Parts: sequence; C-alpha cells; structure tokens
Amino acid sequence: MSKQTDLFYNRFSFLYPLVDVFLQPQKKVLLNEVNAMPAGNLLEIGVGNGSHLTGYQKHRVTGIDTSEAMLTVARKNSHERITLLNMNGESLQFEDQKFDYVVLSHVIAVVDNPEQLMKEALRVLKPHGQIFILNHFTPDNWLKYIDRAGAAVARTLHFKSLFHIEEIAAVKQVTLVKEIKLGPASYFKILTYQKN
Ligand SMILES: C[S@@+](CC[C@H](N)C(=O)[O-])C[C@H]1O[C@@H](n2cnc3c(N)ncnc32)[C@H](O)[C@@H]1O
Repeated sequence: MSKQTDLFYNRFSFLYPLVDVFLQPQKKVLLNEVNAMPAGNLLEIGVGNGSHLTGYQKHRVTGIDTSEAMLTVARKNSHERITLLNMNGESLQFEDQKFDYVVLSHVIAVVDNPEQLMKEALRVLKPHGQIFILNHFTPDNWLKYIDRAGAAVARTLHFKSLFHIEEIAAVKQVTLVKEIKLGPASYFKILTYQKN
C-alpha cells in the first residue's frame, strides 16, 4: 500500500461522490451479477465510500479499504450483513479459502502492485469461488493512445491509465467465465473469473 495513495483518498473522499455519479451505472450491473449468484461470504477490496453497499441483497460482505476517510463514509452506508475493516488488499489478514466471492471494483489499477492484489484475492478465495473485476481495460485500438497520453495525469490521481489484465500472471491460474462490456468502445468491463 502506498502512503501517498492513502493520503490522496483521505483528502479526496469528500469529492468521491462526484466520481461516483459516473460509476454508479456500472456498479449497478456489477451488483446484478453478484446478486444472481448463490448467497455466500463475499470480500470487497477497496470498498471506497460504500455507496453501493445497500445493493448487496443476500451475501455476507466484508469490505476493506486502506483509507480511513473512505471507510468513515462507508460505515454510514453499511447494514447488518456488512463488516468494514481498515486493511491492505495486497496483504490480507484472512486465512486461505475464506471467501466464496471477491469483488474488485475500480481498485486493481489503483493499488501499487496489481499482481500482489490478485495473488491475495485468489489466496482467500475458495476453490470454484468467483472473482468479479470491474475496471477500465486498455484496449488494442485508438483508446490505447489516450491511455498513454493520460498516464502522467493518471499518476497524480493515483491510478494507472494503461492497464492490461493479461500482464497479471496470477490471472492465468483462473478461468474467465464471463465478460460484460459496459458503454461505448467497451473500455469498461466486468470480468468474472472462477478459481479452479
Ligand atoms: C477508485 S476507488 C474505488 C472505490 C469503490 N470500489 C468504487 O468502485 O467506487 C479505490 C479505492 O481503493 C482503495 N485502495 C487503494 N489501495 C488499496 C489497497 N492496497 N488496499 C485496499 N484498498 C485500497 C482506496 O482507498 C479507494 O477507496
């Protein structure tokens, strides 16, 4: 976890609802996917301000984040099936194979080490458990030039604009079971992987 990213989100938490206006429709699709799965133990890493938490209909949810300011807002959006903890997704304090589902919504390109995040997410996932990744994915078309041009600005906003999921070695250990393209040019997607 980077101290700078933590500081950034602590300062930025009051502005996050503005970003959220744009992200809410994507998260609605994500929640529909998750809610269609049988009830189980779900871990959401980088839960942010938790504005979507009430949308989890049946799962027992553990939400973690490294920003105390984001968690403070998330606690107001919480309910009895939700536990919120200050924890680093790159170094999870849970035993192996604890969760049926892991959700990564706009976090994998924010953390310092996406490879380590993915390894940890898979470690705590049960065999045949599913991991849902909602994110931007740099495509192999004209949009990659925009991602390249925006890389420096993105760094100041603490995310990686250039993001290729296939560069994460841990992804090779899981099976892609569903891909949902969101919006024009399919820049944003929900990828669902199953642990073997
Ligand atoms: C772009 S926000 C996404 C929030 C929420 N998941 C959403 O979709 O709106 C990224 C969140 O990840 C958190 N974060 C960054 N690095 C983290 C880490 N290593 N472990 C856990 N959370 C982290 C940030 O504090 C922030 O709340």
